[in-house]
Amino acid sequence: MAKTKTPPPDIKKIAVFTSGGDSPGMNAAVRAVVRAGTYRDLHVFGINRGYEGMIDGDLKRLERRDVGNIIQRGGTFLKTARSMEFMTKEGRQHAYESLQAYDIDACVAIGGNGTFTGAKVFSEEHNIPFIGMPGTIDNDLYGTDYTIGYDTAVNTAVEAIDKIRDTAESHNRLFFIEVMGRHSGWIALETGIATGAARILIPETDTPIDDIVERLRRDAKRKKRFSIIVVSEGNQNGKAADIAAAVKQETGDLFDIRVTVLGHMQRGGSPTARDRVLASRLGDSAVQGLLDGRRNVMAGLVNDKVVFTSFDDAISKSYPPKPELIQLAKILSM
Ligand code: F6P
Repeated sequence: MAKTKTPPPDIKKIAVFTSGGDSPGMNAAVRAVVRAGTYRDLHVFGINRGYEGMIDGDLKRLERRDVGNIIQRGGTFLKTARSMEFMTKEGRQHAYESLQAYDIDACVAIGGNGTFTGAKVFSEEHNIPFIGMPGTIDNDLYGTDYTIGYDTAVNTAVEAIDKIRDTAESHNRLFFIEVMGRHSGWIALETGIATGAARILIPETDTPIDDIVERLRRDAKRKKRFSIIVVSEGNQNGKAADIAAAVKQETGDLFDIRVTVLGHMQRGGSPTARDRVLASRLGDSAVQGLLDGRRNVMAGLVNDKVVFTSFDDAISKSYPPKPELIQLAKILSM
């Protein structure tokens, strides 16, 4: 297992980058790292395009003013990528040489599972400490109650579904609405609870088509024909369109069915205050963590306290939605 603490190293120059799928709040996270680093007399560099830019030596010095007026912006001004080359030993060797050319002593990686897997492998091969910050809308990382971007993504989905609900009610239509979360039901579950969905389909639990049909038939008996069903993209029954087709097969013309896929709109937009504050707190803690000798760990917030979790645990341990939330969703949608 990779070491997670070493004697405080002599760190003068650090580099920060964003990697993997972007998430609202990544800019706030970079800003926090730059300013917390500068405050502690470090020289901070930004790496463009994640690991791709690290391989290419695409680094630039960032001062306090360079990160002004970005806290409210979605996306990531450093840009991001999912790098195939970094998965190879040669790619990582090139990345190491680039970091050495700039005398970088340590890196702050903002991203999700793939980002930390890359950081962990890199640290095992090369002696440059990495620290992580959880940046993904999926909220699927062990070691933090919430990831940076999750709150914004849920609020975006809720806003969209509230609008769909208006037209669903006007036309007496049944909507299947697909939300993101590759392997995780967090977005679907909290969005579904917040929008009063009739059913919420998530990867972590099995909701048979029969159960959905039975619920809908009960609704139809009391003349209710409009409903919202929230479908996580990774749920066990397939995409929203497949589920809608299966329900149509069972119910015939009983319902006027429509499907909406919210898709990448959930990844954009101005971050909520929650995400900005989370990003700011973790950015400061990540920098201090590096100076304290922490390495190969992710800074997260658990019960409102900053904690550091090894990359090993953050990557390999699962963080499914809480059972009490799943139970709550069931009770409220009986
Ligand atoms: O991991 C974040 C995420 O937005 C998932 O929810 C989604 O499945 C995936 O990324 C989409 O990836 P891409 O932008 O590469 O299509």
